[in-house]
Formats: sequence, C-alpha cells, structure tokens
Amino acid sequence: MKKITIVGAGRVGESTAHNLAKHETCSEILLIDIKEGVPQGTALDIQESAPIYNFDTKLAGSNDLKDMAGSEMVVITAGIPRKPGMSRSDVLDTNLAVLYEIVDTAIKHCPQALLLVVTNPVDVLTYAAWKRSGFERRRVFGMAGVLDSARMASFVAMETGFSVKDINAMVLGGHGDSMVPMTRFTTINGIPIEHFLSKEKIEKIVKRTREGGAEILSLRKTASAYDAPAASIAFMIDAISRNRRHILPAVAVLDGEYGLTDICMGVPVVFGEQGMQKVIELPLNAQEAAEFKRSAESVREDLVKLKK
Ligand SMILES: NC(=O)c1ccc[n+]([C@@H]2O[C@H](COP(=O)([O-])OP(=O)(O)OC[C@H]3O[C@@H](n4cnc5c(N)ncnc54)[C@H](O)[C@@H]3O)[C@@H](O)[C@H]2O)c1
Repeated sequence: MKKITIVGAGRVGESTAHNLAKHETCSEILLIDIKEGVPQGTALDIQESAPIYNFDTKLAGSNDLKDMAGSEMVVITAGIPRKPGMSRSDVLDTNLAVLYEIVDTAIKHCPQALLLVVTNPVDVLTYAAWKRSGFERRRVFGMAGVLDSARMASFVAMETGFSVKDINAMVLGGHGDSMVPMTRFTTINGIPIEHFLSKEKIEKIVKRTREGGAEILSLRKTASAYDAPAASIAFMIDAISRNRRHILPAVAVLDGEYGLTDICMGVPVVFGEQGMQKVIELPLNAQEAAEFKRSAESVREDLVKLKK
C-alpha cells in the first residue's frame, strides 16, 4: 500500500502507526487528530526511530481531515475511550458523531479507500460506517477478534506453559461482554485445549478473555489497552496489503451468514487484496450457536440506539 491514514493520534493510533512503519506495511502514514501539534509531534517522534528500526516509511501529521486524500486505507481510532466502570456502549453518542465526520470526509476525498473501524463500540460503529459510506461490505470492517483471540491465546499459554507460537485461539461475536470465545476451535499445535486443560481452567480463560479489556483498564486506570490492539490492527492491514489471505476474526457486515443480515459482528474472515474477501461460516454446535445468537441480540440492542 502507498498511503494509510490513521484518524485519532491517541494511544492506539500512535502505536498502530509505529507498528505499520516498523514493518514497512505502506510507504506513507498520515496521522490526523483534532489536538493541535499532537499528530505532527507523534509522526516526527516515530519518524526519528527510522534509523534504528531501519524503515523507509514516511510519516506526517495533520489537523485537517481533508489531508486523508489519496489514502488506500483509513483507520479510525478517534474518539473517547471508556473510563473504569463504563461499558463500550456508554461512549456511543460521542464516538458516532466523530465517526460520521471521518466517513463523510473519506467519501469525498478518498472514495476508493478501505475503512477499518477501531473506535468503540466497534460492532455498532462498523455498521454505522458501512451504512453512512454506502461502500461495498468488503471495504468496511472492524478490529476486535484478532485482539480478543490474541488475549485468549496469551491466557492459554500462561495456563499451560506452552509456546504461544503453537497456540491458535478464536473469539467470535460482538466485542463486549457477550463475545464468544470458541474453545472447540482453540488448539495447541492442532491439539484441542481440552487435552491439556480442565473444564474449570478453560472457563477461567473464557472469563478472563471476555474481561480482557476491563482488566487492563482497571490496572492502568487512566488508559485502556493499546499495545495489543495496535498490533492487531497492523496484523489485519498487513494481511490486506500483502494479499496474504489470512483467516482472521473481524467485525464484518453479515449478509445471510450465520442466519444474520443487516448487522456487524465478529466472524472469521479471509483478508487479502481488496479487503474482506469472504466470511467463513463455521458449523456451530448447539451451545456455540446459542451464545452467538445471544451476542447478536446484544449487538442489535446497540443498533436500535443507533437507529434512534
Ligand atoms: N476495537 C478494539 O478492540 C479496541 C481496542 C482498543 C481501543 N479501542 C478504542 O479505540 C479508541 C481510541 O482509543 P485510545 O486509547 O487511542 O484513545 P485516546 O484518547 O488515547 O485517543 C483518541 C484520540 O482521538 C482524538 N479525537 C477525538 N475526536 C476526534 C476527531 N473528531 N477527529 C480526530 N481526532 C479525534 C483525540 O484527540 C485523541 O487523541 C477508543 O474508542 C477505544 O475504546 C478499540
């Protein structure tokens, strides 16, 4: 990719820019924020690490959304993060207004761009970005499942002591308390985790995964998670820009898959050139299907607020 714009040069935006630059995922990164000097200073700070990390990616900062012109991808990390005790849905009204402004600018100034939504509540805002933009669904998606699955894989590694490199975890559903960690599809070098962990231990991992964001927030108090989220965003973009055709869990617009339409939520997706290439439909057992349905209902409750 040539140019990627990240709107929101806060913690997630900054860490994402650094990840993309270090891996030379694109040749230009533009950081945009409403805070004067912040995106410019952040871009320069990252740029000055180039001689050490050995990357040629050029970074710039701006306070003008129109500068996203010519971007092949717009990553949306602008808005307010939740504070301790707040749910992801509590920040909906503020972040929706911010998102609409960004999407409207993208429609006008980079009408071919892919939109990657990160701002919470991510399922609802991905849906809002898709509706507002009128873009095909392959071009609008959200980041959540890669992060939730990475958290789950980390907890499996911590519990078993095995190399995290061998662990494949999968978390689907909405990015909230109703997310669905898929233990049946979580393996250690192909071996189901049930072989190594008791039912109680697996339940503990599932609970910790669901509360992964809150755990970080309650420890840090003034900042929510950003390192693992940024790594997850960069991983998704790498799959697209290098046309890797990775299967990654992501927030996608559903069009009949899993029996759902007119909703966005976490499902396994093939990412490559042109963005989201395909939604993979897994054969869910009765319990998984029930949890997935519950999760969809909880996303729909937020969508009702959006439609109001
Ligand atoms: N989807 C996920 O899995 C996931 C993970 C982590 C964080 N998040 C979300 O990402 C968002 C950013 O988190 P953060 O920790 O970086 O927050 P942050 O407060 O550090 O950064 C947000 C930035 O957005 C900027 N901003 C606000 N309104 C803007 C506008 N209209 N135009 C341009 N910039 C604007 C702010 O000035 C700030 O710099 C939050 O909504 C958070 O909940 C999502």
